[in-house]
Amino acid sequence: MLVPWAVAIATATAVSAASPWSSLPLELRDKNGSDAGRSSLPDVSAFHDMFTALSDMQETYFQRWLGTWPDGIDWTRAVMSTHVAAALRTISDELELSQPSQGVECATRKEEVVAGYFTDVIAYYFAEDAFAIRNQAYDDMLWVVLGWLESIQFIDEHSGFLSRVAFAGLGQTSPGAETWYGSRWIPAFAHRARVFWELAAKGWDTKLCGGGMVWNPRLMPYKNAITNQLFISASISMFLHFPGDSNTSPFGTGAVATSQPSTAEWPPHDPLFAQAAQDAHAWLASSNMTNPQGLYADGFHISGHSSGSNNTRCDERDEMVYTYNQGVLLSGLLGLYQATGREAYLREGHALVQNVIRATGYDLLRNQPVDDVPPNRVPPWRGLGRAGVLEEACDAAGACSQDAQTFKGIWMHHFAAFCAPAALRLSAARFGSGSPGGEESGAVRARHEADCRRYIPWLRHNARAAMGTRDGRGLFGMWWTAGLLRLTAASSDGEVAADARPPPPTGGGGGQVVDYRNWGVPLNEVWVRMGDGSRRPVSNHGGVRQKPIQKPRGEGGKTGPGVGERGASSDGGEGVWDPNLRGRGRTVETQGGGLAVLRALWVVSRLGV
Ligand SMILES: *[C@@H]1O[C@H](CO)[C@@H](O)[C@H](O)[C@H]1NC(C)=O
Ligand SMILES: *[C@@H]1O[C@H](CO)[C@@H](O)[C@H](O)[C@H]1NC(C)=O
Ligand SMILES: *[C@@H]1O[C@H](CO)[C@@H](O)[C@H](O)[C@H]1NC(C)=O
Repeated sequence: MLVPWAVAIATATAVSAASPWSSLPLELRDKNGSDAGRSSLPDVSAFHDMFTALSDMQETYFQRWLGTWPDGIDWTRAVMSTHVAAALRTISDELELSQPSQGVECATRKEEVVAGYFTDVIAYYFAEDAFAIRNQAYDDMLWVVLGWLESIQFIDEHSGFLSRVAFAGLGQTSPGAETWYGSRWIPAFAHRARVFWELAAKGWDTKLCGGGMVWNPRLMPYKNAITNQLFISASISMFLHFPGDSNTSPFGTGAVATSQPSTAEWPPHDPLFAQAAQDAHAWLASSNMTNPQGLYADGFHISGHSSGSNNTRCDERDEMVYTYNQGVLLSGLLGLYQATGREAYLREGHALVQNVIRATGYDLLRNQPVDDVPPNRVPPWRGLGRAGVLEEACDAAGACSQDAQTFKGIWMHHFAAFCAPAALRLSAARFGSGSPGGEESGAVRARHEADCRRYIPWLRHNARAAMGTRDGRGLFGMWWTAGLLRLTAASSDGEVAADARPPPPTGGGGGQVVDYRNWGVPLNEVWVRMGDGSRRPVSNHGGVRQKPIQKPRGEGGKTGPGVGERGASSDGGEGVWDPNLRGRGRTVETQGGGLAVLRALWVVSRLGV
């Protein structure tokens, strides 16, 4: 799936075309510009694979005439646009790594690659159904905030790079004199991020459980991990990266986010955002939301609330464990460190990452999975995966919803943010009082990077598994573990699928497990507000995330969950069973997951081993 403008570039540069991607203009070179350093660069193939995943995602699933991924839903599209912006950040960063001696001409060619996909991001800005998302749950709104803040960071970094190249190449007198055209979009993106942050901030509630974000204003109060983690991450990112907004439309009055309401201006680095992030973090940390494996359970109901009790405590925990609930917090913790200089935030992040890695069945000390992988068998479930690979509980059965198809990619995105080599570049001294001095922050950075480096072999293992799920068209599947197992046709005969299904998680307290992300919100009084006396759910159109809002399973809905299909996979030939054809099959969401794991591998492996 070669994109047309890449062909043009390839022709112009006359690179040998052994594979379509050898013609990429993004030649990886050592800092000194020689090819000799190629082998010293980390996982060079991961970079090419990442670019291919991005290109396949956009050429296969994005419709330019609509400016969107038509098969996505509002929140998954917001995540997809985040993946694209993040990939562009990484490509731009790579240009810099390979650039210095190569001059303006080369930079211009490479700029076309980045700019080509940036136009997709701009198109999506208009295709995004901002009106619909305003009426959805608070988490839906916060994905929007994170997406546009990611794009703003990309624009900032890419503009900076181009002005440095122009400075070096043209002998201009001051760097930054040239501004990339993309920066014209910053005010629009900033405005949308700010508007949606304000809408979402209305979900903060102190009447119940002493604080915390409510998930969905149209349901019974449910304080879940994702909404709170998103609020932490989005708020601290607003503090760090929001460039300010002077656009009062369409919500001109009643602003809650500004320290200068009378001027109707929203300044950058408003301490209000940092405070919101710290409050939300303090609440989450004290909420008892983690299970005995140190993983976040899904969230808390308030028992008796539906029958008029005056209980206000978060005391009824839903024990369901999803990958993304262990991920979004990571970028929030990084941001909190950047804003305050407190290393405890980083330590908390590493503890969570290590709990996740352990729960995939991977031993970081021995650097290998704890279980053998006998031929044609599925290894035992370890809490959040098996055989050292991150897995969703719905994966093995092929029963994942559109929501769940997006989760592993989200984990990888936020993990990459946490462990990116540039992660601690931003000076804490810029924002915090009492932040550490140069030497101390150097030591913090060394400790942080040493920990992140330890995760690289595990990450590579996961990327390899995900790569193994690609079909003949190069598209990624949902169940990454299957890419490692190479199941044969025999495995589809029920036996493997049966013992592969994970047991329900137990939180140690005998709590309930409701997998509402895959099977929809139960229409009972624990979840849904009942109309007066009627015992029927009140209308909650547009608010309750339920199956009908998601796109039907499977391509054309031909296959249902758990119904296996036999087929030849990309390179496996006859007899290889492709469990990723089951259920919803390969989608833009599973492609986004593939893109995210490859990007994480490339980004984090730059720390070296
Ligand atoms: C460039 O880097 C490579 C690999 O690190 C090294 O072998 C080579 O000698 C370097 N060339 C120069 C001119 O420094
Ligand atoms: C509400 O709280 C009060 C005081 O704590 C208590 O006496 C009362 O029984 C509670 N009512 C219900 C319905 O639980
Ligand atoms: C934390 O939650 C678990 C699971 O619901 C429960 O068993 C335990 O008692 C709670 N601990 C505290 C201190 O509330």
